[in-house]
Amino acid sequence: MALPSTSNPSVSPPSPRVLAALVSMGSLVLGPADLTQGTISNVDTVPTVVDNLYSQGMISSAVLGIYFAPASDSNSGKLTFGGYDPSVITSTVHYTPITDTSSSNLFWGYNQSITYGGKTILPNSAGTVDTGTTLILIATDAFQTYQSATGGVMDNATGLLRITPSQYNNLQTLSFHIGTQTYDLIPNAQIWPRSLNYAIGGSSGSIYLVVNDIGYPSGSGMDFTNGYTFLERYYSIYDTTNARVGFVATRYTNSTSN
Ligand SMILES: *[C@@H]1O[C@H](CO)[C@@H](O)[C@H](O)[C@H]1NC(C)=O
Ligand SMILES: *[C@@H]1O[C@H](CO)[C@@H](O)[C@H](O)[C@H]1NC(C)=O
Ligand SMILES: *[C@@H]1O[C@H](CO)[C@@H](O)[C@H](O)[C@H]1NC(C)=O
Repeated sequence: MALPSTSNPSVSPPSPRVLAALVSMGSLVLGPADLTQGTISNVDTVPTVVDNLYSQGMISSAVLGIYFAPASDSNSGKLTFGGYDPSVITSTVHYTPITDTSSSNLFWGYNQSITYGGKTILPNSAGTVDTGTTLILIATDAFQTYQSATGGVMDNATGLLRITPSQYNNLQTLSFHIGTQTYDLIPNAQIWPRSLNYAIGGSSGSIYLVVNDIGYPSGSGMDFTNGYTFLERYYSIYDTTNARVGFVATRYTNSTSN
């Protein structure tokens, strides 16, 4: 799908379920209209699907809600045009403004800080949320701090950090501080679904972490990408009208299905 993708091509491919979701969404352009600038000659921007629905009066605000369910659930997710689906969220939606910081401001960019076990691994920085990225990518220095805190070793077959069962038992909460809110990933949310290890070239008994290296140091103006593995745990809302993104817990936020 064509929400802005900031994916690092060297990281693992999307899981089959992700691919299925992407394919079923076809070539809908869901990112901000600015992103399509220059892609078609003589037209300044290609209005996105959401913008078109809005300008045609089919939805009352240019908002898109995206729900992904984890691998254990047969429903792969749900797009809601013009708002969000209240039936799948379990808390109050909180929004954060699209950041001014370049180049995150060209995407669904916003600011967050990240802590692991209460210790800062990435200070308040701009980055993006991206449905087209599988993993959670963070600046190299933040990733190295996470790696040493978890004890993960880089696994050549998958390109992911691999941890032992005892390191898994010792995993701490990974927290994303966005605006006034904190969005926690419990240990089980930080690992790749073990039933899908085969899909990334992993071995069935291993445990892999879904946090990976964005490929450059922090301070770039795009220091993280919260991809699909984050969005499986938190519903996300892309609000063009008010230039903001929203996140909210679902019944899968603390799921231990991985
Ligand atoms: C967002 O983070 C960037 C660093 O990536 C910083 O320069 C900017 O001031 C921050 N903006 C806000 C509103 O905190
Ligand atoms: C993994 O890849 C690195 C870098 O290419 C190499 O130095 C290392 O020997 C490889 N490890 C294994 C176990 O193959
Ligand atoms: C997830 O579990 C933590 C405790 O580990 C709890 O504080 C939090 O409220 C739970 N979140 C949801 C959405 O259930």
